[in-house]
Amino acid sequence: MESPPSIFVVSIFALLVSSTVPCLAFASSPCHFPAIFNFGDSNSDTGGLSAVFGQAPPPHGESYFHHPAGRYCDGRLIIDFIAKSLGLPYLSAYLDSVGSNFTHGANFATAGSTIRPQNTTLRQSGFSPISLDVQWNEFYDFHRRSQIIRSQGGVYKKLLPKAEDFSGALYTFDIGQNDLTSGYFLNMSTSEVKAYVPDVLNQFKNIVSNVYGQGGRNFWIHNTGPFGCLAYVLERIPILAAEVDRTGCGSPFNEVARYFNRGLKKVVFQLRKELPLAAITYVDVYSVKYKLISQARKHGFNESLRACCGHGGKYNYNRHLGCGAKNTVGGKEILLGKSCKDPSEWINWDGVHYTEAANKWVLDQIMDGSFSDPPIPLKMACHRQPGH
Ligand SMILES: *[C@@H]1O[C@H](CO)[C@@H](O)[C@H](O)[C@H]1NC(C)=O
Ligand SMILES: *[C@@H]1O[C@H](CO)[C@@H](O)[C@H](O)[C@H]1NC(C)=O
Ligand SMILES: *[C@@H]1O[C@H](CO)[C@@H](O)[C@H](O)[C@H]1NC(C)=O
Ligand SMILES: *[C@@H]1O[C@H](CO)[C@@H](O)[C@H](O)[C@H]1NC(C)=O
Repeated sequence: MESPPSIFVVSIFALLVSSTVPCLAFASSPCHFPAIFNFGDSNSDTGGLSAVFGQAPPPHGESYFHHPAGRYCDGRLIIDFIAKSLGLPYLSAYLDSVGSNFTHGANFATAGSTIRPQNTTLRQSGFSPISLDVQWNEFYDFHRRSQIIRSQGGVYKKLLPKAEDFSGALYTFDIGQNDLTSGYFLNMSTSEVKAYVPDVLNQFKNIVSNVYGQGGRNFWIHNTGPFGCLAYVLERIPILAAEVDRTGCGSPFNEVARYFNRGLKKVVFQLRKELPLAAITYVDVYSVKYKLISQARKHGFNESLRACCGHGGKYNYNRHLGCGAKNTVGGKEILLGKSCKDPSEWINWDGVHYTEAANKWVLDQIMDGSFSDPPIPLKMACHRQPGH
């Protein structure tokens, strides 16, 4: 009985030839993105909100920059590690007029940004007026005006991107979490929050289409994280004990995050149909972050839910005395929102954001495409996958 094995071998070979050769052709050429344009909230803000509404105070930045660096973190963010792994410099915030260099891209994200414009001021609710539609306006203006100014030559050529870099660039998005928390902070119920998610997703979809209309081709879209594991939500919105999961996270909040993410994935499928030249990668950051928080020790972290930098309470988080908060006693300034001894052992930085160590861990997980749809590495994210 020799023939069955050989037929087996032949058919496997035929399969390999027909299915892997086109992929190998893609796999052989990394993308060489000349620039990154990022849209988002504090998870990827490298100085936008700080430039406009005041610097994030020390000890923000202490682990890597050794001074505040416009980030709500002890060091670098996922977007910084993305830039680094692509061989590009850290992104300047579009709103930062001091010392910025936009040769390899610009960052439109600001802390507190939402997809939908909010009907409250930053002072009232803490949400940034730089919502995604505003970030789009900024990008549109930057695209047009950077080329007019660049044509003047001199130093401008060394500060602004080339025209062709806008189509070669990677467009990254990490936004949506604040749209979900904003409803809860207005005392909405979980079903009331869910009810407006389609509107949020629709506005997101329009902006991605607009960027495509300006020549954007390569999109890297993070889904929203398990915000039910974050102190600022757990501390502020009461839930029943039965609604706390084994990790200590609030199940209704994470359920809403996953509801948003399922919708986001559908939007990505629709966009792939509507934008024939776009390569769009959907990245399941939710699962990576939840994996880290629920198995903290296994991954080298001691603390999962408590904030490294903060002041008191169950989570070392107090919304009125945040990381870097000071008090003046007898003419002397005292730092109340203090940092922990070794932030690299903590996942949560300030009750709202992740530490540099956690951000690095997340990037290491998502870089090779294991959490992406399609499952291609970051360096290949310019290749539109057949069938996707
Ligand atoms: C703000 O108000 C407008 C007009 O009432 C409404 O259409 C919109 O949905 C509101 N936005 C949010 C985020 O609630
Ligand atoms: C801006 O950054 C680019 C790339 O790092 C560099 O070549 C250029 O000289 C910088 N521009 C200025 C004015 O320093
Ligand atoms: C939400 O409810 C809390 C507790 O009842 C109340 O103190 C707060 O003012 C309410 N917030 C809004 C925006 O209605
Ligand atoms: C983390 O665990 C190690 C080993 O058990 C211990 O030496 C260290 O002090 C712990 N750090 C924190 C922040 O609890």
